[in-house]
Amino acid sequence: MTPQHIAAIILTAAAALSAAATSAAEKPSTSDNASPIYGVTVPEGYRKWQLVGPALEGAPLNELRAVVGNQIAIDAYQRGQLPFPDGAVLVKLAWKYTQSPEFESALVPAQATTVQVMVKDSKKYAASGGWGYGRFVNGKPVDEAQHQTCFACHAARVKDRDYVFTRLAP
Ligand code: HEC
Repeated sequence: MTPQHIAAIILTAAAALSAAATSAAEKPSTSDNASPIYGVTVPEGYRKWQLVGPALEGAPLNELRAVVGNQIAIDAYQRGQLPFPDGAVLVKLAWKYTQSPEFESALVPAQATTVQVMVKDSKKYAASGGWGYGRFVNGKPVDEAQHQTCFACHAARVKDRDYVFTRLAP
């Protein structure tokens, strides 16, 4: 093999690699990252969204939680608007908790457990009260069986509040 051959092979390999990298970066959220049943994905930028309210979940889960909403959801909360308009998105972050190493009585977040998402689209999700659901662990959706439980529990308890538990914290 001549040096020219080797250079050509290296160039071809580099081009293939860079094409693969580009297509991976440009690919919109694929079905891999979308929840079963609903096709909901983790929304971009949700860590910067406004807080709706925190929650403390007792045994056996023992979790700290925070629900945040996009601007459409926050506006609806502030107006007291029910049902939530299409485009509203709510995200619930959850962590195990642990005693603060610096202050005995404080419980602080430990490892993250799940990120859960509700997306309002009254047409697309008409069969589930207008909300699509997604539960994610390490950015990956959990199985279909878990997604079959979402609507039932929300419908049983908070149907009259458009299936949403969390109130805007005072
Ligand atoms: C057994 C009941 C139950 C089931 C099943 C359930 N949830 Fe919830 N969900 C709650 C409760 C209670 C809250 C209120 C916040 C809290 O205590 O964590 C909540 C809150 C939420 C919120 C924040 C908005 C709100 O309603 O307060 C999202 C998003 C959410 N759940 C998504 C999901 C998804 C996705 C699934 C299915 C994978 C699911 N939930 C299954 C009980 C349930």
